[in-house]
Amino acid sequence: MKLLVCGGAGFIGSNFIRHMLQTYPEYTIVNFDKLTYAGNLDNLKDVADNPKYKFVQGDITDLNALNAVMKDNGITHVINFAAETHVDRSIHGGTKDFVLTNTLGVQMILDAVRANNIERFLNVSTDEVYGSLKLGENTYFTEKTPVWPNMPYAAAKAGGDLMCNAYFVTHKVPVIVTHCSNNYGPYQFPEKLIPFFVFKLLKGEKVPVYGDGLNVRDWIHVIDHSKALDLLLHKGTPGEVYNIGVDNERNNLEITKMILNLMGVGEDKIEYIQDRPGHDRRYAIDASKITSLGWRPDYPREKFEQGLKETIEWYKTNTQWVENIWQKKHDEMNKFQESLGTEDENGTA
Ligand SMILES: NC(=O)c1ccc[n+]([C@@H]2O[C@H](COP(=O)([O-])OP(=O)(O)OC[C@H]3O[C@@H](n4cnc5c(N)ncnc54)[C@H](O)[C@@H]3O)[C@@H](O)[C@H]2O)c1
Repeated sequence: MKLLVCGGAGFIGSNFIRHMLQTYPEYTIVNFDKLTYAGNLDNLKDVADNPKYKFVQGDITDLNALNAVMKDNGITHVINFAAETHVDRSIHGGTKDFVLTNTLGVQMILDAVRANNIERFLNVSTDEVYGSLKLGENTYFTEKTPVWPNMPYAAAKAGGDLMCNAYFVTHKVPVIVTHCSNNYGPYQFPEKLIPFFVFKLLKGEKVPVYGDGLNVRDWIHVIDHSKALDLLLHKGTPGEVYNIGVDNERNNLEITKMILNLMGVGEDKIEYIQDRPGHDRRYAIDASKITSLGWRPDYPREKFEQGLKETIEWYKTNTQWVENIWQKKHDEMNKFQESLGTEDENGTA
């Protein structure tokens, strides 16, 4: 396999590339990433010299660049992680970039996949496209749940997903779409809940919890997500959609208290702040379709505390990575706030 990974310098893409290089030493991997504020080549320092790995800087909205990287490297398979991913930014002023990358960018990849006779294309998407479930109900997102997003981020992702379906039906492009729940693990940019809270606590600061803290997400370890994508790349059926989750529903307050506990600090470090506008209440995934293909998570619900503990330990140990990214986050937040003229600095995902 000669695999093009779009957006491989971010959180999930970099974990996925490391997993693939370790699992399939014979595969060639080309990482095509624009290196926005969220892209970080430090995430892949340990594999940068691997002769089977190559980095090419580029933008998925640039069709010529996509065609060139596919042709030059004889690409056979494509996976797309490239996206604007921070929900708060999509609400507070950066919406156009979300539509450009998350919708138009996917359409450009589809055109390039079609022109270069690519064998399989996986478009990595999110459960947020389904909208919100009610708290306390025994309901789950299945692959048949109507797409009805509430956030500009999720709407832009849904645009890309729908384009995939249209290209499959109209042009027979061999594309698969995945909808995964919230990821945690090493190398996550500290605008998202878990690393943001861990970093704040490491600095002795308080952690901001939105609203009543009862919003529920199904938390999955990034290595389990990577292994699910690996399976679909090999055994998924083109034209199909697959949900990925581990039945690990937790509300934000529960997650916050677990982090406080694992870091040995008290609940006086919690600061409740005004809720995010349109904050979806609950996401929950029915993952029976991908489970039927043989996928089993290493970190099911019973192992969540262990996964969280290992993640916190990773951030505590990799101090240079943390310092560099924390500085980058502050520079980026200042730039973003200056462009908006607001004071909002909440990083809750
Ligand atoms: N993080 C989660 O919990 C989660 C859950 C489900 C699905 N997803 C999806 O997984 C994918 C990866 O998420 P992540 O958390 O790793 O994101 P991330 O923000 O950490 O990384 C995104 C990467 O995409 C790159 N990028 C952005 N715009 C680009 C463009 N126009 N061209 C090329 N590269 C570009 C960035 O430089 C960065 O390296 C996204 O599509 C996201 O919607 C994420």
